[in-house]
Amino acid sequence: MSESVRQRIEHLRDEIRRHEYLYYVLDQPEITDAEFDRLVRELQELEKAHPEFVTPDSPTQRVGGKPREGFVKVRHSSPMLSLDNALNENEFRDFDRRVREGLRGEPYQYVTELKLDGLSMAVHYRDGLVSRAITRGDGAVGEDVTDNARTIHTLPLRVKSELPAFEVRGEVIMHLRAFERLNAERAARGLPLYANPRNSAAGSLRVLEPAITASRQLEYYAYLLLVDGQPYYETHWECLEALARLGFKVNKNRRLCNNVDDVVAFYREWEEKRETLAYEIDGVVVKVNAISQQRKLGFTAKAPRWAIAFKYAARQAETVIDNIEVQVGRTGTLTPVAHLRPVNVGGVTVARATLHNEDEIKRLGVEIGDTVLIERSGDVIPKVVRVTKQGEHRRPFQMPKQCPVCNGDVVREPGEAASRCINTNCPARLKESILHFASRSAMGIDGLGDALVDQLVDRGMVRNVADLFDLTVEDLTKLDRMGTKSAKKLIDNIERSKHVPLPRVLNALGIPFVGERTAALLAEAFGSLDAIAHADREELQRVEEVGPKVSDSIRRFFDESHNRELVERLRVAGLQFTYEVRRKPGGKLEGKTFVLTGTLPNLTREEAKSRIEAAGGTVAGSVSRNTDYVVAGENPGSKLDKARTLGIPVIDEAALLEMIG
Ligand code: IVH
Repeated sequence: MSESVRQRIEHLRDEIRRHEYLYYVLDQPEITDAEFDRLVRELQELEKAHPEFVTPDSPTQRVGGKPREGFVKVRHSSPMLSLDNALNENEFRDFDRRVREGLRGEPYQYVTELKLDGLSMAVHYRDGLVSRAITRGDGAVGEDVTDNARTIHTLPLRVKSELPAFEVRGEVIMHLRAFERLNAERAARGLPLYANPRNSAAGSLRVLEPAITASRQLEYYAYLLLVDGQPYYETHWECLEALARLGFKVNKNRRLCNNVDDVVAFYREWEEKRETLAYEIDGVVVKVNAISQQRKLGFTAKAPRWAIAFKYAARQAETVIDNIEVQVGRTGTLTPVAHLRPVNVGGVTVARATLHNEDEIKRLGVEIGDTVLIERSGDVIPKVVRVTKQGEHRRPFQMPKQCPVCNGDVVREPGEAASRCINTNCPARLKESILHFASRSAMGIDGLGDALVDQLVDRGMVRNVADLFDLTVEDLTKLDRMGTKSAKKLIDNIERSKHVPLPRVLNALGIPFVGERTAALLAEAFGSLDAIAHADREELQRVEEVGPKVSDSIRRFFDESHNRELVERLRVAGLQFTYEVRRKPGGKLEGKTFVLTGTLPNLTREEAKSRIEAAGGTVAGSVSRNTDYVVAGENPGSKLDKARTLGIPVIDEAALLEMIG
C-alpha cells in the first residue's frame, strides 16, 4: 500500500515539476491552472497523510522556512564581479579594440544578452538539489538567502544533471506588473513605496520571512554555470543552452554576433523595444563567446576584460525646480509636487516630480531654484533623486499653514509624515473622496470620472458623497458633454451601487487607514455598520490588523457629527449597512472550513468569503486542526505558516474558484 502511495507521490511531483517548468519557464502551459492545482492538492493531501514521504525538493515545500534571525554571510566560490560600462557606441568600439588586440588577430564571436535590472544571485546545487543561494553582496561575500530563493518559481529546486555539484549565477528581477501591484497595495496600506522594481526585488529577496518573498512574484534568469567557480562549457552560448535544458529560465532575447556591427544592431533593436518588455533592462551585456578566449583576456581588479555592460541612457535627467506646489488628496493630505523645467527622460517629457512630504524635502535638502536629478522608472510618477546644484537664488519650500484650495487649516499630527487639510468640506478633498467613493474597490460607480466630478463639485451640485444619490437625469444633462443617454446610464450605475456589500461601503467612506482589507475584516467581525460605529477602541482592536492607529481613526470618524449625518443619509439612500453570511445547504463546499490569508488577485476578501459561503462552506478567522483549506494570496500572514505547520492544504484563488465550480 505505502509503496503505491510513494509511487503516486513521485509521479505527482514529476508531473508538477514538468508543468511548473512549462508554465513558469517556457510560458507554455499544457494544462489549465485548475488542473495544475488539482495535482498540487492531491500531492499535498498525500503528503499530509504520509509525512514520512515529504522531501525538501517536493514542489509543495517551496515555502517551508520559518522567519529567520538574519542572514548568514557566505564567501563566493569565485568573486561575483561587476562589469565595466560602455555608455555609447564609441566606448563599445574601444572595448572591442581591446578585445581584438588581446586576442592578437584570432577570430572571435560575441554573445549579446539583455542586461536585466535586478540583483545577481548565485545558486549552488548538490546532487541535483538546491543547496544554497547567495546574494552578490560585495562580490566576495554575500548573504545566504536559500529559504527565500526557494520560493521563486523560476528557480528549479531539482535538476537532472550528471554533475555532482555546480553553481548557477543569474539575476533576480520583479516584473513591472508585480511591482506596480505591490506598490499600489503598499500605498493603500500606508506603507512606504519601493522606488523601482530593482529595489523591490532586492527588498523582497532579503526579507526574513520566506512567505513574503513567495508572495512577491520574483523571477530568476540564469546566465552562468560554474563548476568549482569556473566555467564548465567551452563557449558561453553552449552554457546558456545547457542552462535552458536543465530547466532554468534563460532570457530568449540573446544573439550570437560575429562582429561589432551585429552587436550594435542588437543594442539598437532593444533600445527601441525595451518599452515593450514586461521587466526593466538597463542595457545589453556583451561577452566573448569562447571560454578559452575569455581566459586569455583575463580580468582587471574589478571586472572581466572579456565582457562589458553596453548601457542605455539612464532614465534620469537633470533639471531645475521652478516651483513647489502642493496637491490635496482625498484624506486631505498635502503632497508637495516639484514643477520642473520640462526635460526629456528616456523619451518622455517630464514636468513634475513628487516630493512626497516635508520629511522627504528635508532629507533631500531641496529648495526652489535648485538643479536636481530626477528619475523615471516604469510607469510610476517621476521622483527627485538628489540635488546636484544649489540654485543661486534658492528659497526654501514651506508647507502652507492654510490649504491652497479651501484656505482651511493645515495640521501635521505628531508622529505622522503627512500634513493634512482638516476641512472635511474642502473641495479638493471632496473631489478626491468622490472619486474614491466611486472606485472599483468601493461603490464601483462606472462613469464617474475626473471631469465629471470637477463639474459636479464646482457647480455645487454635490457637496458630499450622499448628494450623489439625489442626482437626477435632469440635473446631469445640464453638465457639459452630457447627453440624456449617458446621464441615464450614470444614474443607473449609481442606483446599482446601492447593492454593493458592506465591506465595500465601508471602504468607500474613506476613513483614514481603513482600506479594502481592513474594511472587510471589520465587516466580517461586526456584521453591521452600526456595530462598527458604536464599537469602542478596545472592541475594534480585537479585529485582526486593527491597532491603536486604525481604531483611533475609526472612532474619530464616527465621533464627528458631519460624518454621522452623512452616514444617516447613506442609510436612507438604501446602501447596505449589514453584512449577512448566507449558507447554502448541499453546496459543493458543504462541511468544509476555509481560512483566508493575504490579498487574492481578483476577489476581495469579502467576495471570497461570500462565494465560499454561498457554496456551503464556512470561513474561519484562524487556522486550527479543523481547517480544511487555507486560501493564500499576496502578502499572506502568519496563518500561512500555521497551515504549513499543521499540514493543512494551501490553495490559491484559482483553485478555490475551481472547487466552487
Ligand atoms: S554577466 C562576469 N549577464 O549586471 C560576469 N550580468 O554590471 C558578470 N546583469 O552584477 C555578470 N543581466 O547583476 C551578466 N545577462 C547578464 C546580466 C548581468 C544583468 C547584472 C548582474 C551583474 C551586473 C554587472
